[in-house]
Amino acid sequence: MAKIISVCNQKGGVGKTTTAINLASFIALAGRNVLVVDCDPQANATSGLGIDKKQVKESIYNALIDNKDISQLLVNTKLTNLYLVPSNVHLTGVEVELVSIEGREFRLKNALENIRPAFDYIILDAPPSLGLLTINALTASNSALIPLQCEYYALEGLSQLLSTINLVRQNLNPHLEIEGILLTMADFRTKLTDEVIKEARNFFQHKVYRTVIPRSIKLGEAPGFGMPIILYDKNSHGARSYYEFAKEFLGVDFPIDIEIKEKKEPADGEKSIRQRA
Ligand SMILES: Nc1ncnc2c1ncn2[C@@H]1O[C@H](COP(=O)(O)OP(=O)(O)OP(=O)(O)O)[C@@H](O)[C@H]1O
Ligand SMILES: [Mg+2]
Repeated sequence: MAKIISVCNQKGGVGKTTTAINLASFIALAGRNVLVVDCDPQANATSGLGIDKKQVKESIYNALIDNKDISQLLVNTKLTNLYLVPSNVHLTGVEVELVSIEGREFRLKNALENIRPAFDYIILDAPPSLGLLTINALTASNSALIPLQCEYYALEGLSQLLSTINLVRQNLNPHLEIEGILLTMADFRTKLTDEVIKEARNFFQHKVYRTVIPRSIKLGEAPGFGMPIILYDKNSHGARSYYEFAKEFLGVDFPIDIEIKEKKEPADGEKSIRQRA
């Protein structure tokens, strides 16, 4: 039965999608079955995994609103064991549409029920807001993984996120835990990075992962090529740091044995849509 994890922070551009894609990729390379669900209308996880969002006809929207069986929405990625439920532009209006739907906070949780046994991990890439999409993600999850950018005001707004998590725990999902805090985009030459790391560790103590993700040009480039970092440049600092993070996350060491299922150019989402048996 899959453990379901929301990667969330209402602050934009802190590394949620990069973390969702790359953590999922390394867990898949560790031999686990992993599903990424793109819960963001921006569809960055979708394009970052090589699926052209403009070609996506049916997305998580159809599961949330039309009760479409989510197993019909699964898409293959370039990595064995790694699957995606894509997002597309239809998700843009979903928060408004959900308002009048019964059990609106539980739509994603219910949609995932069927496919949960087929996976070891389901990673939900949340949008940069605390609206109904993020609430749906948190309600469906065992835990929340919070990326924190090593930047000015990194911790600002976190109390709002933590109180949202508390509210969800009290009212919708009593088992919701904080999986951990991941420091991202660190520039170790600067004092600021040191300060943010110190402050985060002071505040969250052992909940902050030992692994810190550095700022890496390659990590910024990879999504433009529709590839997780392991396929884009496996020797980059970015690849190594997410590999370290995945090992820390799983609590096991594992060798990387890269298997590319299909060699193909990015942006051919249509062709890669398959139904999972
Ligand atoms: N460690 C890193 N080093 C360099 N660039 C990075 C790193 N992590 C992420 N980026 C880049 O920074 C931008 C924001 O990252 P990402 O999309 O992962 O953040 P996000 O929190 O998902 O953003 P949003 O809130 O818009 O969904 C992207 O262009 C991404 O490629
Ligand atoms: Mg994102």
